[in-house]
Amino acid sequence: MAPRARRQNGSASRRGWRQLEALVQGCTFDDFLLAPQFSMLDRRDPASIDLSCRFSEHIVLRRPIVSANMDTVTRAPMATLQAEEGGLGIIDRGFRTGDIEPQVREVQAVKRTQHLVIADPWTIGPEAALAEALAVMDRRGVGTLVVVDAARRLVGLLTQRDVRFIDQGRQAARFTVAQRMTPRERLVLHQGRLSMAAAERLMVERKVKKLPLVNRAGRLIGLITAKDLLHQKRLPFASRDGQGRLLVGAAIGATGDYLERAAELVKAEVDVLVIDIAHGHSVVMQKALEAFRARFGDVEVVAGNVATADGARFLARLGVNGIKVGIGPGGGCTTRLTTSFGVPQLQALVECRRAVGDRIPLIADGGIRRDGAIVLALVCGGDTVMLGSAFAGTQETPGDVIHKSVLLPESQKVVKVPFKVLRGMASIQAIKDRLDVEDDDEVDLEALGAEGMEVSVPARGSARSIIGDMMKHLCSAISYGGASSLDEFKERVRRDPNRYLIPLSASSRRESYER
Ligand code: XMP
Repeated sequence: MAPRARRQNGSASRRGWRQLEALVQGCTFDDFLLAPQFSMLDRRDPASIDLSCRFSEHIVLRRPIVSANMDTVTRAPMATLQAEEGGLGIIDRGFRTGDIEPQVREVQAVKRTQHLVIADPWTIGPEAALAEALAVMDRRGVGTLVVVDAARRLVGLLTQRDVRFIDQGRQAARFTVAQRMTPRERLVLHQGRLSMAAAERLMVERKVKKLPLVNRAGRLIGLITAKDLLHQKRLPFASRDGQGRLLVGAAIGATGDYLERAAELVKAEVDVLVIDIAHGHSVVMQKALEAFRARFGDVEVVAGNVATADGARFLARLGVNGIKVGIGPGGGCTTRLTTSFGVPQLQALVECRRAVGDRIPLIADGGIRRDGAIVLALVCGGDTVMLGSAFAGTQETPGDVIHKSVLLPESQKVVKVPFKVLRGMASIQAIKDRLDVEDDDEVDLEALGAEGMEVSVPARGSARSIIGDMMKHLCSAISYGGASSLDEFKERVRRDPNRYLIPLSASSRRESYER
């Protein structure tokens, strides 16, 4: 672009942001509608509309959805699903202080579900007892072990098929791995690296589901599985790292064991860490980020929460790669009720975006109670949205289903309805669990500063269909907005916000959002 055109573009965009900021003062999602524009799309299909975005400076996603780091929302099953669908899950830090291993296991579970080439497949020695191999398979949740000698040379493969009719007790103790494995001479294997397309051709041609890779000395350098190849094809939008593994994030605190926790999570190859505290514009955060950078260099880190221009600038100056925006809009959050502090979420997003420019992505965290709010969060400065309540009760959330008796008003019949628990991470119950206190009276716990609540929500199906609907609705919004991609849509609104945003009167809000 010529310098003059670039200058004009820059000043139009600055003007747009100024207008947007004036429009959203004191406002949040339900204060606006968007005015329909001439549509250029003949299809509103999420598979054909570009919805890509950045979660943080170095993490690009194809879908702008992130599941919240809450202990009733995101553990491995939710994070896996989010990444499969093109978004990201942040594993909560709601494990007891010093109890780091459980969170690490959740991260490992996500990183190990899918690969291009499994660089470090689970292995076992040929002389090991079959019982030991079965125990490893069970512990690791895998159906294949690569059999290697002490010099890591490939000697065979042990799969479920090889152990199918072996009983777990006496027989398993009697046999060695070497006696049941398929030996190297009967395996199809490949020397050196190869492309995924070549691997697929070879595996189809030779009708094998596993392809071990070895170097010239015969040492194991990887394993390709048919299941992984299918995953890569079936999930074209999935969020993956360079090795084809799903992306996953994890939250750490800003005090206590947070550096040790970060070190273990980095070792487990977590893709991004989130330093998440209720008030991110604080000396606690400053110390935490300085210590984090000193110890971990340029490991990708997102921090929050903040909701003001000063807060966002403060985090930017401390070198974060992404900023979580939102003080008090969350469904399980009582901060505004108990302290009267907070910033309406659209105002917070626009202010923070103006403060840090385009370099640092913003995560619009909390308060999304209908799919249309996602659209407003994204056009007003969010790069992604973080959701907690929207996924509550789905089958991928942690926690048991409990059945409660509910009185049906029409028939006056009592029926048993399945529920799951959703709780704020600063709720008394969550704090209690983290601190491992059972008997402390509520008064002491209140003194710890509870700013969240616990609610029962109806148990429902998979979060996958919820994300599917969200993406369809986002694509419809892009079409109504006269754009053909998410980026273009955002750009259009930001250039001319007055053309798009309609502030609502009380009655037009009732007409729009009260159903
Ligand atoms: P939604 O509205 O999607 O919001 O449920 C999710 C976000 O809410 C925040 N959160 C809390 N905020 N006290 C708070 O002040 C809490 O106990 C609490 N728990 C969660 C958090 O930012 C999350 O991503």
